[in-house]
Amino acid sequence: MTAALKVDGERLLTRLEQFARIGATPGGGVNRQALSPEDRAARAALAQCAVARGFSIFQDPMANLFIRREGRSKDLPPFLIGSHLDSQPMGGRYDGALGTLCAFEVLETLEDAGISTPSAMEVVAWTNEEGSRFSPGAMGSMAFAAHAVPAEWANACSQDGKALKDELADTLAALPEASMRPLGTPVSGYIELHIEQGPTLEREHIPIGVVHGIQGTRWLEVVITGQTAHAGTTQLAFRRDPLVAATDAMQALYASIMPHDDRARLTIGRIAVEPASINAIPGKVSFSVDLRHPDVQELSRLESYVKDTCEKKAAAAGCAATVRRTFDMPPAEFSPRLLSAVEEAASRTGIAHKPMLSGAFHDALFLARVTDAAMIFVPCRDGLSHNEAEYVEPEHAKLGAQVLLQSTLIALGIS
Ligand code: GLV
Ligand code: MN
Ligand code: MN
Repeated sequence: MTAALKVDGERLLTRLEQFARIGATPGGGVNRQALSPEDRAARAALAQCAVARGFSIFQDPMANLFIRREGRSKDLPPFLIGSHLDSQPMGGRYDGALGTLCAFEVLETLEDAGISTPSAMEVVAWTNEEGSRFSPGAMGSMAFAAHAVPAEWANACSQDGKALKDELADTLAALPEASMRPLGTPVSGYIELHIEQGPTLEREHIPIGVVHGIQGTRWLEVVITGQTAHAGTTQLAFRRDPLVAATDAMQALYASIMPHDDRARLTIGRIAVEPASINAIPGKVSFSVDLRHPDVQELSRLESYVKDTCEKKAAAAGCAATVRRTFDMPPAEFSPRLLSAVEEAASRTGIAHKPMLSGAFHDALFLARVTDAAMIFVPCRDGLSHNEAEYVEPEHAKLGAQVLLQSTLIALGIS
């Protein structure tokens, strides 16, 4: 009987619209950066939906938000499904929200049908998956998997100058109806649905990706220092211009990494020049480097190459470079048990599916360190994400929720 159970697709679409209005941008996307008032509003909206259905809500010290539907046993650890509600500064309405709201739809479907599960089921909205306001990304799931908040985050500040600890405290206080629980409470498994954020599924007309793993990511912060001096009077021979070094280094990196390895990714997404005056040679240039590769050894080689290149180009311009690693996410492989549950769910529902590797990182990567984890992808238009124009066909959103429901039931052994 549970094999025939269906999510309420229209309810899911209405809810997606409701959440897309929270932090909406003129271009049709959302700006709901982690722990901002908009993020808090989305969390409050989800909590309100949960309370309306009689589910209980919890937060942990990283403000990860959990919605619990009890099962037959209170002693067994819950099965977890979810994603995140925070967004990029000019983000799309589906990245994170789709997985969180599909997970909530699963809980509601079970409630409507009066299906009792052996253990509790919980929906989670992880804090700061994006990493754009506070770095690094996936802070909530990382701390959950480590059972602790890493000491180096104690003085973390946002791009807009707010302390992480204050923003966390205010976010926690904004949901007094949620009970507090410690970080890393045990779970029996985790499935996350997400948009692919790449073009493969759409191009191949396949609605479901069964994600067997995630490639590795490293984030580096490069700082090149030279000497600020007068723009009009300083001859070439006397200049120590860090922007010359930085642009040389960037050109060299762009020319030598991705053109030679189609599995490698290099992105320089942020650059700051100081003192940023039109008529002063800069004294300091900082820029971020996002490196990705499925092979961890290759990722290490690329990191050393970035460091060498920056140091050499800085020296050539009379400057000095430091390269600091701010984030290291080794590649992850997901649980064969949960992957076969997802495959079986898609096959039973008669939906075409294919195994794939995730190019983006996700909270599931950290969950895979502490429990069985797996992911489900649905296509997004033109593979576009981290962009206000991000779009998911309503039919694909519904199919994703349906596969998430059935995968969860199979994983729990009740379908
Ligand atoms: C996640 O948002 C990523 O950058 O992969
Ligand atoms: Mn995401
Ligand atoms: Mn994202």
